[in-house]
Order: sequence, then structure tokens, then C-alpha cells
Amino acid sequence: MIVNLSQQHSMISNWIAELRDVEIQKDRMRLRRNLERIGEATAYEISKVLPFVEKEVQTPLGIATAKVMKEQPVLATILRAGLPLHQGLLNYFDQADNAFISAYRKHNKDGSFEISLDYVSCPELENRVVIISDPMLATGSSLVKTIHFLKAEGHPREIHIVAVIACTVGIEYVKREEPSVTIWCGDIDDELTAKGYIVPGLGDAGDLAYGTKVQM
Ligand code: URA
Repeated sequence: MIVNLSQQHSMISNWIAELRDVEIQKDRMRLRRNLERIGEATAYEISKVLPFVEKEVQTPLGIATAKVMKEQPVLATILRAGLPLHQGLLNYFDQADNAFISAYRKHNKDGSFEISLDYVSCPELENRVVIISDPMLATGSSLVKTIHFLKAEGHPREIHIVAVIACTVGIEYVKREEPSVTIWCGDIDDELTAKGYIVPGLGDAGDLAYGTKVQM
């Protein structure tokens, strides 16, 4: 399933417009905060489809029956660009367990690239709801590789992907490889360059948030 959050008017579209804007995106603090705010708003949307249970709560005046989340999800993110979006999700799923994955593009001389997955730290995943954040769902290869890895570590009950901008090709690839995942995205763009950048997209999310890196 794919949920395009910009199909309904909301603040998310404003934040995405600012993220895309070549002038506004120069303000790194604002860019990171906008990614974080999208993580927060998306967490709220995802919470609507997660299981809740009733619980009695003692107030100063009596007992209230409250509905609370049955369990906390596992929040997984791909370093480094995923960090602000992850933080936004964690601000709302504030007791979640967390997983960190370092997956990066190892570029070949001809412009092609493979995904290299190095460092991984993750909690117990058996029967858990796992929410993986990656701001740019471009080719979908790092997400699919991450999902394969996480599934080999345990058996998550549900997997959700959170992306700020998703590209049609990447969505199709994820849907083909992992048909049971739900993709939540802020917007969908149709074009992908030969180097795997989304057009119009917003540029390199990691560089914009944290500065350019010297490694290829
Ligand atoms: N990663 C980015 O940061 N930007 C893109 O356009 C694609 C992948």
C-alpha cells in the first residue's frame, strides 16, 4: 500500500515546499527541522493504523478509560540522511526501540552504484512493527536491502517505510520486492537521473542536512 500524504492539504506540503526551495534549503537548521516535523506528522498518521488497547487511568477525581497504543514500534533509519526524519518519528513514538543502518551508494567509474550495508544495530524484531525512515526513496535499493537484512534478523509483523519524497520507479521496485510493506510519503516525483537523484526532488538530503562529504 502507498499513502501519499500530499493528496490531502496539510502542513506537510508547506514543509516539503521549503525543503525543495534552493534558497530556503540553505538554512540547514530549518531543513533538518522540516524533515523532523514531517517525521512527527507522519508518526501521527501511522499511529491511526496501529493497534490500541483500553486502559484504566487514575485521575485526581476518578477512573478514566483511556485508549493507549498496545505496543511501541521499532524505528529504523538509514544513516546519515535519515536522522532528522527518524528524530521526528521518535519525538512522537517516544518510547520506541531504535535500529540504525549504514547503507550507502558505492559508485563505480561508469556512474552505476551498488548499495553497501556496513554497520547495523537493531533490537529484537520478532513480531514487531518496524518503521523505516529514509527521506528520499529513489531507486529503492537501499530500502530493499535494509528490509532483507532486518527480516533475516527476526520476523517483523508489519513494515512501514517513511519517505519525504518518493520516486515512482523506487516505489514500483519496493512494491515488487516487498509487496506487504506500506509506504508513507510526503510527495511523489516521476523522474530519476542516471546517478539516482530524484527530479525535481530536493537535492542531496544528507549533504543539505549535514554538509558535503569527501567520500564518493
Ligand atoms: N538521495 C538524495 O539525497 N537525493 C535524491 O534525490 C536521491 C537519493
